[in-house]
Amino acid sequence: MSNEFHYAIDCADLPAGANKAVEIDGQSILICNANNEFFAVQNRCTHQNSPLEGGRIRNGLISCPLHGVMFDVRTGCGRGQMGRVPLKTYALRVVDGRIEVSLEAPVAA
Ligand code: FES
Repeated sequence: MSNEFHYAIDCADLPAGANKAVEIDGQSILICNANNEFFAVQNRCTHQNSPLEGGRIRNGLISCPLHGVMFDVRTGCGRGQMGRVPLKTYALRVVDGRIEVSLEAPVAA
């Protein structure tokens, strides 16, 4: 795996509070807009492996649509017993309004 950044989505297509799953190198990555800051996490809840896409983001926490466990999109850390396994998080950068993600060396939770 290389450390290059891959295009994910345009900032303009991801308003505050929104999230969108994109596929990069065969992995489903969830791009999140938390108060106009962008973060990338795995699009699989660590509770029962359900997609996180579409979960509500509030105060930097995304709620899993299935059972509601909340994860911090900045660190991947979950809340409560069902969220004890953190999400992987990924390096993200914005270049000319385009969000790019690197899959190498996920940011430690
Ligand atoms: S699968 Fe996400 S909270 Fe249960």
